Amino acid sequence: MSSIPFLDLSRQTARLRSEILSALERVIDDNAFSSGPYVEGFEKAFAEYLGVPHVVAVNSGTSALHLIMRALDIGPGDEVIIPSWTFIATAWAPMYVGARPVFADVDPRTWQIAPEDVERKITRRTKAIIGVHIYGQTFDLDRLEQIARDRGIYLVEDAAQSHGALYRGRKTGTFGVVNAFSFYPTKNLGSMGEGGAVATFDEELAYRIRILRNHASPRRYEHVELGYNMRMTGFQGAVLSVKLKYLDEWNARRREIARMYREGIRNPLVEFQKEYPDSAGVYHIFAVRVRDGMRDRLKDYLAERGIGTGIYYPIPVHLQKPFREMGWKAGDLPETERLSKEILALPMFPELTDEEVNRVIDAVNGFGR
Ligand SMILES: Cc1ncc(COP(=O)(O)O)c(C=O)c1O
Repeated sequence: MSSIPFLDLSRQTARLRSEILSALERVIDDNAFSSGPYVEGFEKAFAEYLGVPHVVAVNSGTSALHLIMRALDIGPGDEVIIPSWTFIATAWAPMYVGARPVFADVDPRTWQIAPEDVERKITRRTKAIIGVHIYGQTFDLDRLEQIARDRGIYLVEDAAQSHGALYRGRKTGTFGVVNAFSFYPTKNLGSMGEGGAVATFDEELAYRIRILRNHASPRRYEHVELGYNMRMTGFQGAVLSVKLKYLDEWNARRREIARMYREGIRNPLVEFQKEYPDSAGVYHIFAVRVRDGMRDRLKDYLAERGIGTGIYYPIPVHLQKPFREMGWKAGDLPETERLSKEILALPMFPELTDEEVNRVIDAVNGFGR
């Protein structure tokens, strides 16, 4: 029996190959390699898709988060509250500008940043909260918006994993004051290289980020502050404009696969991520929680049957070396640390066939019996 990959991008590429090649040819013919009309075209299309007036495309999600910190004037002496249950880039953002990341624990059912722990960790120095819509499900936007408003701090969304996810009918990445997306190739909307974007309703923040990404240069050879080269390339703008047209269709298929997993998997050792009411996640990752210390056994069991899985994340961010050196230690975030030992991600990408999904379901159901 053929194996079932955890992720196979080549199936998507095969379908879009000729459309993408002609888009790339246009970039070449127009010599529009860095920024330019294909990047602007994508910015406009993605802004319309999200329902925000401003999208600024950059060269990665990490850069988007970094520029957000700069645009909000966060710096030394400031604290930024983030989940530890995320990809490392969320935590680099405050570090890049000399601020201190303060890690909040997760809710054990939703695996999202826990509002109560955020409240506990707010101090006089707290400038912002970066919430992460982990695995493409939404965090508790109502509560976190409320906390941010009451305490006079910024709410930022890291929507790197949640392109197109809805909360009360509105897209994620449109709730915070200014929000980050990643277009790393494996994301729900992926470039063919590196890419990211910032989305906001705030014209001034958008302008500042637009300037900062290009050497802080409002006019040619004039530089008004410390800037960067974080521009998106023309190729990525062109590829993303092609792929954006398919995003809703792909997300619908991800939801369908998730529904099959949720309805089909019946194994007392396995739990699912709980979603917030009135939200529609986009299953960037479909992870299950495996109890009784059986996670690695299930991983091996599935591997023996040719089924690929992933662990997001084996080491929580607060226990990575740079943060241990700042005093964070095992035991600080018990729910997060438990997840890192119990989470297993199953194959999830829109091109998975029903037959493959059913084979994964049967294999998980056969485990431990
Ligand atoms: C939650 C989260 N934040 C930030 C990033 C960083 O994005 P990039 O890899 O585009 O720099 C990623 C993904 O890589 C991510 O998953």
